[in-house]
Amino acid sequence: MADAKTPWGGRFEGSADEFAARFGASLPVDRRMWAADIRGSIAHARMLGAQGIISARDAADIERGLDEIRREIEDGLFVFDIADEDIHMAIERALTARIGEAGGRLHTARSRNDQVALDARMYAREAAVALADGATALRATLLGLAEEHLGVVMPGYTHMQKAQPVLLSHHLLAYFWMLGRDVTRLRAAFDSADVLPLGSAALAGTTFPIDRAAVAAELDFGSVSPNSMDSVSDRDFLLDLTYACSVTMVHLSRLAEELIVWSTEEFGFITLDDAWSTGSSIMPQKKNPDFAELVRGKTGRVVGDLMSLLVTLKGLPLAYNKDMQEDKEPAFDAIDTAVDCLRAADGMLSTMRVNVDAMCAGALGGFMAATDLADHLASRGVPFREAHEVVGKLVLLCERRGCSLQDLTLDDLRAASPEFGDDAMEAVDIERIVSRRVSEGGTGHDAVRIQILRAKVALAAAQEWLAARREG
Ligand code: ARG
Repeated sequence: MADAKTPWGGRFEGSADEFAARFGASLPVDRRMWAADIRGSIAHARMLGAQGIISARDAADIERGLDEIRREIEDGLFVFDIADEDIHMAIERALTARIGEAGGRLHTARSRNDQVALDARMYAREAAVALADGATALRATLLGLAEEHLGVVMPGYTHMQKAQPVLLSHHLLAYFWMLGRDVTRLRAAFDSADVLPLGSAALAGTTFPIDRAAVAAELDFGSVSPNSMDSVSDRDFLLDLTYACSVTMVHLSRLAEELIVWSTEEFGFITLDDAWSTGSSIMPQKKNPDFAELVRGKTGRVVGDLMSLLVTLKGLPLAYNKDMQEDKEPAFDAIDTAVDCLRAADGMLSTMRVNVDAMCAGALGGFMAATDLADHLASRGVPFREAHEVVGKLVLLCERRGCSLQDLTLDDLRAASPEFGDDAMEAVDIERIVSRRVSEGGTGHDAVRIQILRAKVALAAAQEWLAARREG
C-alpha cells in the first residue's frame, strides 16, 4: 500500500497502521458505485458553480476532470488503490491529481456521509429497475407458456397429495402473479431510494447557500430529504430493496422446487433442457437439475443478507456511524444473486419440454374426481355430508379393485346410492371437472382465458414503467 496522505492529514501526526487502513477500507466493495459517484459529483459541482460558491471555471474544470476519469474507468485504465479507502476518495484524489486545486474545492458543502448515501441511492434505483426487468422477463415467459399450453390438464396438489385437476396454465400463472407482487415491491424500493440526501453534509446541513432542488432535478430525484440527520443515517431503502430481493428469491425457490420435482422420473412432467442440466461424474445415466437447486439454495443467502443488514442497523444512534459501511456487501450480494436467479429461472422455463401425456395421465390418478362426484349427489338434494360418505366408499371400492373412479360404471355408482343421475359419469370426466371451475380466478378454461387477458394488461403496465425508467 502506498504511504498515502489521508484527507484528514491536518489533524493527524502519525499515519494509519497499514492493517487498520486495509481493515477500514471499503473500496473493493463500493468501487462498483463509481458511475453514481461521478454523476453525483458533477451535479454537485455544477450547483456550487451556479450558486457562486466556487468559480464557474473551477466547476468546469471539475466536470472535465470527472469526465476524463469516467472514461478511464470505462476503458479499464483507472488504477484502484486500496490506500484510497473508498470510491469517493479514489475519485477525488484522481481528480485533484489531474486538475489541481479546483479538485479540492469539489468537497465544499459536502461530506462523505451525504455522498455515500447519494451514491447508494442512485445505485439502488438502478438495481431496482434491473431486478424488475428480470422479473418482468420471467413473467413474460410464464405467460407465454400459459398461452402455449392452454388446455393441458395436470394434477393440482395439497399436502403434496393429488387434490383436484387444474390447467398447467393456471399453475404457471400462479407464479406470474407472485412475481407481479415482487415487481410492486421493487417499485416501492425504487421510490424509497428516490429521495436526494446530498446537501445534508456530515449531519447538520451546511452554511453555504446550496440549491438542493437543482441537484435533485439534475439527478432525477423525486424529492429532497427533509432532515439532514435522518438523511445520512437512513438505509431503509437498502432494507426495502433487500427485502424485495428476499421475497422474490422465496418465490423463485418455490418455483425451483417444482421444477426439481416435476423433472424426477417419478413425476416426469417436464424435461429440463441439456443447457440447463448437469451430469454426474460417476453415474453415467444422471441428468441433474443443478441450476434449479442453486436457485433454491441461494435463497438462504439472500434472506441472510436481509438479516445482516437489519442487525447492522439495529441500535445505531444518529447520525452516521462507520458500521453503516457494512451495508453494501449484503445489499449488493442480494441484488446480484436475485438478478442471476431470475435469469436462471427464465432460462430453465423457456427451454424446458412439457410432457403433456405424463401430466394428463397424472391427472387421472389420485381419485381427484371425488369432490365432483359428491357435488353431483349434493346438487340432487343429498346432504353433502352423506354424499361425502357415499363417494368415500366408492374410493375404497376402487382401491380394492385397483382401478380409478373413471373405471366405475353407472351401476357401480347406483349400488352405492340410488340418487346418482344418468349423467353421473360426466362428474368424473377430468376435462369437464376442470372446465366447470368457472368462478373468477378458478382453473376453468374460460376463467383462465380471462386470467390471461388480465395478465397481459398487468405485464404491459410493468413494461411501461420499465420503459419510462430507462428513458429517465
Ligand atoms: N466508505 C464509507 C461508507 O461506505 C463512506 C462514508 C465515510 N464517512 C465517514 N465519516 N467515515 O460508509
